[in-house]
Amino acid sequence: MKAKNPKDSLTVLTDMVLPGETNALNNLFGGELLARMDRACSISAQRHSRRIVVTASVNHVTFNKAVPVGSVVTIESKVSCAFKTSMEIYVDVWIEDRETGERTKVNEGIYTFVAVDITGTPVKVPEIVPETPLEKERYMGAKRRKQLSLVVAGRMLPDDATELKALFGK
Ligand SMILES: CC(C)(COP(=O)(O)OP(=O)(O)OC[C@H]1O[C@@H](n2cnc3c(N)ncnc32)[C@H](O)[C@@H]1OP(=O)(O)O)[C@@H](O)C(=O)NCCC(=O)NCCS
Repeated sequence: MKAKNPKDSLTVLTDMVLPGETNALNNLFGGELLARMDRACSISAQRHSRRIVVTASVNHVTFNKAVPVGSVVTIESKVSCAFKTSMEIYVDVWIEDRETGERTKVNEGIYTFVAVDITGTPVKVPEIVPETPLEKERYMGAKRRKQLSLVVAGRMLPDDATELKALFGK
């Protein structure tokens, strides 16, 4: 399988926030944003693997700034690391000023997707080669984040999490 670069899986979704998608403060409802992020990440994972993909884990999400009704929201996702059958996807969320077009980052997330065959059995994915400094930084930390996610999910013993232990000098 030929290795790919993160840019091969770049996915950009731009949409508006409508009144039916908000909370009591007229800001975008968190679950609605999570669904949009999940959709973008799913497309990125599919572009990297060219297989059916499923969400295995939402590793991390931060809601830094509220997104008011009427905002134009842009969601950008890319595969940051590929393991055997799983992929880590980074997703960044931006809103833009109506008059100046200036962009503000409001949210960030990290998802794990697994490539599967038609029976739902995990299948191998291509390797990934990061290119930009940010892609390299995200790639370098991915194994640590995978181990953390597996430990939290009860799929790995803390003692086996070598990358995590190294982080704490153990
Ligand atoms: C995700 C799923 C395919 C994993 O299948 P499995 O039979 O447990 O297979 P494995 O244990 O071999 O895991 C497959 C890969 O996923 C990774 N993985 C599984 N759970 C994970 C988690 N919580 N965090 C990070 N990685 C995880 C494994 O480490 C493995 O990665 P690797 O092959 O790259 O090393 C299976 O649990 C599944 O189908 N879950 C439901 C998915 C779904 O429906 N999502 C939508 C929710 S609405």
